[in-house]
Amino acid sequence: MKFIDKKTIAEILVEHLSDLRTEEIEALLEIPPSEIDFTYAFPCFKIAKLKKKSPDIIAKELENEVKHTKFLVDVEAIGPYLNLKINPKYILDCIFEYKDDYGRIRDVIEKRKKGKLRIVIEYPSPNTNKPLHFGHIRNILLGKSLSNLLEYKGHDVFQVNLYNNRGIHICKSMLAYKKWGNNKEPDKKSDHFVGDFYVKYSEMAKKDEHLEEEAYKILRSWESGDEETLNLWKKMNNWAIEGFKDTFKKLDISFDKEYFESDLYLKGKEIILEGLRNNKFEKAEDGAIFVRLKERYNLPDKFLIRSDGTSIYITQDIYLAYKKKEDYNYDRSIYVVADEQNQHFKWLFAILDLLGFKEDNYHLSYGMISLPSGKMKSREGTVVDGDDVIEEVENLALIEVNKRYPNISESEKLRRAKIIGLAAVKFYILKYSATKGFVFKPDESISFEGETGPYIQYCYARIASIILKSGIEISNDINWDLLNHEHELFLMKQLAYFPEFIDSAEKTYNIHLIAQYLLTLCQVFNSFYSSCQVISDNRELEKARLLLIKCVQIVIKIGLNILGIETLDKM
Ligand code: ARG
Repeated sequence: MKFIDKKTIAEILVEHLSDLRTEEIEALLEIPPSEIDFTYAFPCFKIAKLKKKSPDIIAKELENEVKHTKFLVDVEAIGPYLNLKINPKYILDCIFEYKDDYGRIRDVIEKRKKGKLRIVIEYPSPNTNKPLHFGHIRNILLGKSLSNLLEYKGHDVFQVNLYNNRGIHICKSMLAYKKWGNNKEPDKKSDHFVGDFYVKYSEMAKKDEHLEEEAYKILRSWESGDEETLNLWKKMNNWAIEGFKDTFKKLDISFDKEYFESDLYLKGKEIILEGLRNNKFEKAEDGAIFVRLKERYNLPDKFLIRSDGTSIYITQDIYLAYKKKEDYNYDRSIYVVADEQNQHFKWLFAILDLLGFKEDNYHLSYGMISLPSGKMKSREGTVVDGDDVIEEVENLALIEVNKRYPNISESEKLRRAKIIGLAAVKFYILKYSATKGFVFKPDESISFEGETGPYIQYCYARIASIILKSGIEISNDINWDLLNHEHELFLMKQLAYFPEFIDSAEKTYNIHLIAQYLLTLCQVFNSFYSSCQVISDNRELEKARLLLIKCVQIVIKIGLNILGIETLDKM
């Protein structure tokens, strides 16, 4: 089946540019500014330098050489650039033929096994002393959509989660429950119930300085295996995890494996003690174990085990890295963790390297989300529970659905509100580059206009309703000459870029590229739609335009699927 993408263009050009490799040409190809009616532009500066010729002359020579290539309807040298235009027929044919595979077209056609990786991706790895906060929602959305993308592109992806379920913070919730919990069972979502005791501890500790010492006492009795302490710990951990599971289900995530810090930290300690024996690590005067990283890694010294022998956060991570390798024999291991821990992962990867563990580890770091001031402050006044944000946006969605469709059944209203609400939260978060912080505006996220999830969903639903209304069977046996309106050409050009956006998102882990692509596609679709009517007395034209919008719909669906967003045929 004929198909053409950026790489095909590079392959055409390379035959006339023996000084460059296909990959180099592909990397040089640019998307021209929107007013230029060409699909790609090839800048001739680099080749001009190699050939010691003027780039304008090279562009002109190339124009003559590739002018009559199949696939290309127009080729033109403009100054130092060679502009190339793909025949839109091949774009729509390809989407219509390959449907959901369009975004991975080469992988499918070439059955490319090369470059297929085993990838472990860890997220969201919460602590078990309080509910998931809004930052965890960003974490989950990034982890899940990256997994979707990598799976879509044919990699073997293993999603794993870690529970940091031991340590002093856990003991603080336990102490508060012991003192003020009256042995009560949860009377609300159970992770929120556990979190209330953590809040209670923080409040009371401000007034009573002995509380901290009591919490450490619990920690020591936990480490010594005291049964009563362990029972309480198990009970509260289960409550926390049960509550998380509800939220995980809501966000449609599940894991191949879940790790528990309580199972890992002792092995971590062993590795560190062995490193001490091998002189990789050192003992401080007070007995603590630390590592010097200045000379080899230009990093500050790092403590690995406390002077009293208790382990710290990084202790478990040292073993976990080995454990994941043993469990999955991965090619690459990704940690989705907030940017507050950038330093932690620099240390971790350096220490692993020092120990001879030379694996491909990657920290996918992300910035903080804030909320407009005054909105949804939590009890502690700082962090906001993830469940609360989702609920608030779903409520806003319900109001919106009620306004538009007062007469549909209540259950249908709720169903749509859930799908739209989740789309609103997911898209608003995923449209930003992960490293950026931003303000989440609930009202804005739910709007059917602007850069939102509902806007994209609406576009999809609008296409569904046109197709339904038309009733003509869609095929790619159309009169291609009819698709010649400027907006049609522009729309087809956007469609041609999709596989390339998927590729760069895959290579850079920049999920927002897909969200941004969808926004552009839908904007271009909407300008097409406002000047070109699809349903028409001219049945030939209607058929051609139906194929075009069907292809738009296919691409939107692939993109939304990767972002974990559902579509609706009716909003
Ligand atoms: N539980 C940690 C936190 O909430 C994040 C754990 C990230 N993963 C890891 N392997 N260290 O801050």
